[in-house]
Parts: sequence; structure tokens; C-alpha cells
Amino acid sequence: MTRQKTALVTGANRGLGLEISRQLAGKGYQVFMGMRNLASGAEALAKLKSGQMDVHAIELDMADSASIKRAVVELATHIPALDVLVNNAGVMLDGWSLPPSQLPTALLRETFETNFIGPFELLREAAPLLRKSQDARVVNIATDMSSLANINNPQSLVYGVFSPAYQSSKVALNAMTVLFAKEFMEEGIKVNSASPGWCRTDMGTEDAPLSVEEGADTAVWLATLPPDGPTGQFFSSTRKRGAMEW
Ligand SMILES: NC(=O)c1ccc[n+]([C@@H]2O[C@H](COP(=O)([O-])OP(=O)(O)OC[C@H]3O[C@@H](n4cnc5c(N)ncnc54)[C@H](OP(=O)(O)O)[C@@H]3O)[C@@H](O)[C@H]2O)c1
Repeated sequence: MTRQKTALVTGANRGLGLEISRQLAGKGYQVFMGMRNLASGAEALAKLKSGQMDVHAIELDMADSASIKRAVVELATHIPALDVLVNNAGVMLDGWSLPPSQLPTALLRETFETNFIGPFELLREAAPLLRKSQDARVVNIATDMSSLANINNPQSLVYGVFSPAYQSSKVALNAMTVLFAKEFMEEGIKVNSASPGWCRTDMGTEDAPLSVEEGADTAVWLATLPPDGPTGQFFSSTRKRGAMEW
């Protein structure tokens, strides 16, 4: 009998993390939905469960190293291997137009804790469980705004944005995508960055052009790549799974 595939999605109580969890569960994955506050995702979880989806909440604060370690230990008591890790949880604390010269250090640190250090620690701690999978997939959720090419391109929508803590934390996350992909290359573990594009969530606001379903599509595709799929690359829902320049 083949083993049911397993997935861990961070920040899964709402927004894109919830939608990525829903789509993976719809494909038959047993999905562990990371939430820093279990009560905040209880209703969404119950709704997925009522649709016969194999979903479970797991307490996971991405800004807290101890919480990350605890969550991985707990996960290992439930599953023999982790097939998919989606580092989705993220914060954008500096808005859209804060010049870097005005950025307080505390805000930069707080952003990096959740958007970069947390995903790095989770990937490092989960590596033994990922290695027990035959074909693990890791997806780091980046943004079109973390493409240095976009940031420097006057033709890009991103050119007019100044969100220095958010953007630099996601650029750093992209670097980690490439480095982990290289380390894991020979072990069949693929690590890619996915930008959801600009989506209608609390972070993206109602003005965004893409639905959460469209935004989640690239991440779910990368989470379920076949053995000949890419690794160490960056793709965006803005381009309908197309490659994005770093
Ligand atoms: N929406 C867009 O247009 C867009 C575009 C590009 C990239 N993204 C990226 O997509 C990801 C999801 O964004 P979203 O649009 O769904 O945003 P959102 O609606 O604001 O949701 C953010 C999620 O991250 C969680 N989170 C924040 N800090 C956390 C922490 N310390 N530990 C655990 N969870 C934490 C939130 O949990 P709480 O409910 O507890 O706060 C929430 O579940 C983020 O990485 C974001 O940068 C979004």
C-alpha cells in the first residue's frame, strides 16, 4: 500500500496559507496547518474537515525558535516522513512607501524573524523528516517585490514600491531557496520560491487583481512537482507559473 503524502503549511489559518492547505488536501495530502494561534483557524479547519479533508492544526509561531522546534517534534510523532513544506507565513509591517532611510531597526528585525529566520529554522529542523520522503518538495513563498530585477526595472509595477524590510526579507529567503536546493539536489528534495502575485487577502487588500485560488496555484504546483521538475528556481502566479527573474 502506498503511504499517504504529508504536507506542512505555515500561516495556514487564513489567506494564502489556508488556500494552499485546501488545494493540497484536495489532492489527497494529509495537511498539517501551522497556526500561531489555534483558535484563529478553528473555524476554517472545521470547514475543511466537514468537506472530508485530512487536515490538522499544529501550533507554530514562525517568530519563535522554541515553537518551531516543538512543532517539528510534534509532527514527527504523527508522520514517518514529510513530503511537502510550504513556508507561507509572512508579515509586511512597513507598508508600500517607506524609504529605507526611514526604516526603524526594530521593524527590520521583527520582519526578518518571521519572513526569513523562521522559515530557515523550520527548513533546517524539518530536514530529517523531509529526507525520509522519497521526493520531498519545499516551497518558500516570496513575492514579485523580492525580484531584484523588478525592483530595478522602471517598467515593473514593483518599481514604485518601497517596502524595505519586507522586500529584503524575501530577497534573503530567495537566497535560502537556492542554497538549500543545492544542498538537497542529490537527495531528490526540490526547493523553489513561489510568488503568489498580488492577491486579495488581508495583506494584499481587496484592490489586488488575483484571487487566493490563482495566487496559491504556483505554490501548489511546485509542492507537487514530478521528479523531472525544476529546483532552485523562482516562479510567479503573475506569470501563471512562469519563471521570475531573481
Ligand atoms: N497577498 C499578496 O498579494 C501577497 C503577494 C506576495 C506574497 N505574499 C506572501 O504570501 C504569504 C501569505 O500572505 P497572505 O496574503 O495570505 O497574508 P495574510 O492574509 O496577512 O496572512 C498572513 C499569514 O501569516 C501568518 N503569520 C504572520 N506572522 C506569523 C508568525 N509569526 N507565525 C505564524 N504565522 C504567522 C498569519 O497568522 P495570524 O493570523 O496569526 O496573523 C496569517 O496566517 C506571505 O508570506 C506573503 O508575504 C502575499
